[in-house]
Amino acid sequence: MTTAPALLAERPADAALGRFDGFHNIHKALRAAMAQVLVKAGQVDVADAADVSGTAEAVRGLLALCAAHLAKEDAFIQPAMEARRPGSARERADQHRHHEAAFRHLADLVEGFEGRPTPATAALLYRGLAVFMADNLLHMEEEESHDNSVLWDAYTDAELMEIEGRLVASLKPEELAAAFRVMIPALAPAERAEFLAGIRAKAPAPAFEGLLGLALSALPEPAAARLRADLAA
Ligand SMILES: [Fe+2]
Repeated sequence: MTTAPALLAERPADAALGRFDGFHNIHKALRAAMAQVLVKAGQVDVADAADVSGTAEAVRGLLALCAAHLAKEDAFIQPAMEARRPGSARERADQHRHHEAAFRHLADLVEGFEGRPTPATAALLYRGLAVFMADNLLHMEEEESHDNSVLWDAYTDAELMEIEGRLVASLKPEELAAAFRVMIPALAPAERAEFLAGIRAKAPAPAFEGLLGLALSALPEPAAARLRADLAA
């Protein structure tokens, strides 16, 4: 994997201008979810059974979210890269196999912590999450810089949106809901409105209303009011 300073140095400042970026919103969601769960794991009171089980549940939810995301990239993004630029997704595919090993390792750490909640097992879980997050942050940057460059070179935006549409359509309702709950609050207000307006333009009205309700319920009231106002404008 490329080091963080090298990634920062090689990233062209205006690379994304005007092009469709299918990673942007969902990666904001993953970064937010990883940060929140990491902080929660650092704060856990090992003497409080409800806090212990709530923290373990939060880690398992994060792992499920990350695993679902990885599976969709494996099924839709990397095959698209390989179809027109053979070999271009190989490094990312290898990283995904390492992430799957990390999921299993973290699942073991959660089990160990929940079965025997002590400062030592809590620290192991917390540091495991931190390393997992560090690895994922660099991985996602490589997807948003290198992999997007490959996709932008090989595909038109219309083609990329068609691939994204098939990816989203393949999500189970519960996967879509889980992604929505973390993604909507993680976005900037204008991004939330643009995202929901895009769904409104394509989806049947009842489906849009359901997703809008989900989005609004994931936001504190001032942000929910802003989203309603932006969509009415
Ligand atoms: Fe990935």
